[in-house]
Amino acid sequence: MAKPNHPFLAACRREKSSYTPIWLMRQAGRYMEEYRKLRARHDFLDLCKKPDLAAEITITPVERLGVDAAILFADILLILEPMGVGLEYAKNGGPVIHRPVRSGKDVDSLKEFAPEKELAFVYEAVKKIAKALGNKVPLIGFAGAPFTLASYLIEGGGSRNYIHTKKLFYTAPEAWNRLMARLAKDVAEYLNCQIAAGAQAVQLFDSWAGCLTPADYEEFVLPHTKAVIDAITPGTPVIHFSTGTAGLLKQTRAAGGDVIGVDWRMNLDEAWAAVGHDVAIQGNLDPVTLFASPKEIKARAADILRRAAGRDGHIFNLGHGVLPETPVDNVIALVDAVHELSAR
Ligand code: CP3
Repeated sequence: MAKPNHPFLAACRREKSSYTPIWLMRQAGRYMEEYRKLRARHDFLDLCKKPDLAAEITITPVERLGVDAAILFADILLILEPMGVGLEYAKNGGPVIHRPVRSGKDVDSLKEFAPEKELAFVYEAVKKIAKALGNKVPLIGFAGAPFTLASYLIEGGGSRNYIHTKKLFYTAPEAWNRLMARLAKDVAEYLNCQIAAGAQAVQLFDSWAGCLTPADYEEFVLPHTKAVIDAITPGTPVIHFSTGTAGLLKQTRAAGGDVIGVDWRMNLDEAWAAVGHDVAIQGNLDPVTLFASPKEIKARAADILRRAAGRDGHIFNLGHGVLPETPVDNVIALVDAVHELSAR
């Protein structure tokens, strides 16, 4: 296990580190040839369910990029499969839920399951990865936040306007709260099993929370996200990530997290001031910057570091995941630039 004073873990706790740690959401994925080769031979769900392969995919980018944390190779939607809703990753396009949840009756017919049993393949992967990384690099576990998971369950896939999702909380708030409470319980158990298996921090992805009004977030989302975060094994840092939430920072902060993850649609210094300097911050380079020249990438990384102003508790990351067409050399250039520019 990486020591508690590892730069990434120190930054989670807002303690001093010798440089600003960096890792990247979706650092394991299609922009890497190593991943595409494995993917050509295996179904995506297969890769997730075979701990040896999931471990290999997790570790490859850590070695190639020189990042300061590993993130488990898995997916936020895996937890929905044992609920019996028919999860499928379509060949060309996003994930599909074949039997979406649209009513209180649908909520009640979701299958009960034990996350510690049905998702055991994830914890097997965590154990293998933690062992392979040894004391060098910490491993981040993760899960979807209740709202983002609910939006997939209800819409049946990705969505633009979240009409069915919002309609459920407008018209059937009790059913909505039952669904969210159920998701919160499963997610907390799932994350605590990852921690027990060797994850040293966890990230909660609320990727689509930015579609909500502040009042709806407060009433229908905040209590459930807070329930997850409050239930996490004490001492393990929680990164609370969302996108498009510049107008929701007070609320996402109130839901909890030792680290608040922000996207590029706001300036890092303003975001940090808004959530308060008594939490750590993660972000926030626009992922499309990685299509620019290494010189431009370095200049934009420097601007973010200038905004962090050398304050303890900044974890460098993109504002959302690495895009599939991204040149690997540019990702390496970013990691090197952040390490060089932030050396103290
Ligand atoms: O960050 C990492 O490197 C770890 C692995 C990881 C994946 N998904 C692998 C994946 C993580 C952390 C996720 C999180 C995830 N999954 C989120 C939250 C972050 C975000 O991007 O907003 C969401 C919303 C999902 C749901 C999901 N999974 C979608 C919408 C898709 C299809 C579109 C896409 O972006 O690829 C997936 C599939 C998926 N998850 C792939 C990978 C590598 C691609 C599968 C393939 O190889 O075809």
